[in-house]
Amino acid sequence: MGKLVIFDHPLIHHKLSIIRNELTTPQDFRNAVSEIASLMTYDITKELPTKDVNIKTPVAIAKCKQLTKDVVIVPILRAGLGMVDGILSVIPQAKVGHIGLYRDEKTLEPHEYYCKLPDGVTNANVLLVDPMLATGGSVSYAIHLLKQLGIKKLCYVGLVGAPTGVERIQKDHPDVDIYLASLDEKLNENGYIVPGLGDCGDRLFGTK
Ligand code: PRP
Ligand code: URA
Repeated sequence: MGKLVIFDHPLIHHKLSIIRNELTTPQDFRNAVSEIASLMTYDITKELPTKDVNIKTPVAIAKCKQLTKDVVIVPILRAGLGMVDGILSVIPQAKVGHIGLYRDEKTLEPHEYYCKLPDGVTNANVLLVDPMLATGGSVSYAIHLLKQLGIKKLCYVGLVGAPTGVERIQKDHPDVDIYLASLDEKLNENGYIVPGLGDCGDRLFGTK
């Protein structure tokens, strides 16, 4: 079974309190989402493979390490976009692919409308990002799509999850590690995470 990591860090708790607050403006919401994403990424990437390299400093040869594999960030549109800049602030050389999904408001089933991934993605370390893991339908669909395209190494990074979503990913994709800033209580009758933070896409982009 893949790892399930729920972050327990004062800075992340503090920033979660900002994005949960219904009075937070889209500007402050975007900033806090981005900052949480970068804090999480610093820890998530601690096991990325490296190779030994010799670097000539102005003084001598230093034995250093460099990343061996490309990192590709794949946000699920729209809300996943809110995490991309934060992750890029930690891994600026990463490439970015996009998967467009929307959740039907009645059936809660995901519908694909876009997919564009960088060359070489099949051999890269892929971070699939979407702040919200509710029923898990969207993330499960996206993982399935990425696996079908031949991607071998991927994990899912989100902000707020519900137990239903975590169980769905663990059932559909037991090999995939899950990283969340918070595991909330439940889903409500409309498929929203409780207490959650509301509709993340709307809050990021001010669409409601
Ligand atoms: C939200 C969210 C996830 C999905 C989570 O996107 O960003 O992608 O819902 O729900 P699930 O776990 O039940 O699939 P939404 O479909 O609202 O699209 P948007 O980001 O374009 O607003
Ligand atoms: N999508 C969101 O943006 N928020 C939820 O609570 C559930 C799905």
